[in-house]
Amino acid sequence: MKEKLVAKINNLKKKKDAVILAHNYQEDEIQDLADYTGDSLGLSRKAANLEAETIVFCGVKFMAESAAILSPDKTVLLPQRNAGCPMAEMMSIDDLRELKTEYPEATVVCYVNSSAAVKAESDVCCTSSNAVDIVESLDSEKIIFVPDKNLGNYVAQKTDKEIICDLGYCPTHCRVKEADIKQVRDIHPEAKVVVHPECDPEVVKAADFVGSTAQIIDYAQKTDTEKIVVGTEMGILHKLQQDNPNKTFYILSQGLICQNMKLTTVSDIVEALENMNYQITVPKEIRSKAQEALNRMLKLSN
Ligand code: 13P
Ligand code: SF4
Repeated sequence: MKEKLVAKINNLKKKKDAVILAHNYQEDEIQDLADYTGDSLGLSRKAANLEAETIVFCGVKFMAESAAILSPDKTVLLPQRNAGCPMAEMMSIDDLRELKTEYPEATVVCYVNSSAAVKAESDVCCTSSNAVDIVESLDSEKIIFVPDKNLGNYVAQKTDKEIICDLGYCPTHCRVKEADIKQVRDIHPEAKVVVHPECDPEVVKAADFVGSTAQIIDYAQKTDTEKIVVGTEMGILHKLQQDNPNKTFYILSQGLICQNMKLTTVSDIVEALENMNYQITVPKEIRSKAQEALNRMLKLSN
């Protein structure tokens, strides 16, 4: 059955001139049939440079929206209409405008896990892999950082600039507690603990390595350590295990599962390509401003 669906997808891809992008948190089978997998930054770059007419984005809405902003002439499909990111919905335009009024001299850095409208109100975007570099590259000494308080806090630890954080958070990464690290260190004292910067500050402080999903994948390949405890969404284990058959990976908490990332199925991709749904479009006035903020990020993180 699965093989039949995959064959169907391959035919439809040719017919519709489509490429499938999948985030590192997607279900194993979705990662396996994707043309490219990656973190938010890698997939944004890929989306901006693809020649294909259609992009099927297996991830959550803000990711497909970024692809649509960066590639306005392409058709961008999100196979699962309900795949959203709760963090991206935590900040409204009015909240951001209020912050800008309070700190008119500050530069606004917006994590890509945000709506297109919030990006359009920001000076530059960032992802978890380049947030520190982006903030450091700006002339301004005062930064409004939205919407993730934990990533903002992490950046604040790494720079001398003043970081004014918003209150957003990732419900998945916030399930990890410092006690989880203590417990795992008792059981596997020789293991390295790697976490995503969306985790709480105490968790980040107690970890051996902090990075985006692509940075964690890269770290795991380069380190000599054979046991690695992973503090990010468990979908990443698929690539980690594929790339490193001789290493052992443990998940830091069983709570590390993002329901939204798990919604997309192989049948959804077939339907998306057959019916060209669900098309992600961004109104022109929002798109051009959001595109400036995303392009500025891509330029600064080259
Ligand atoms: P990455 O950019 O590290 O892939 O992370 C995206 C994300 O949503 C983390 O929860
Ligand atoms: Fe959003 Fe967290 Fe899921 Fe990432 S893991 S998509 S930040 S809810």
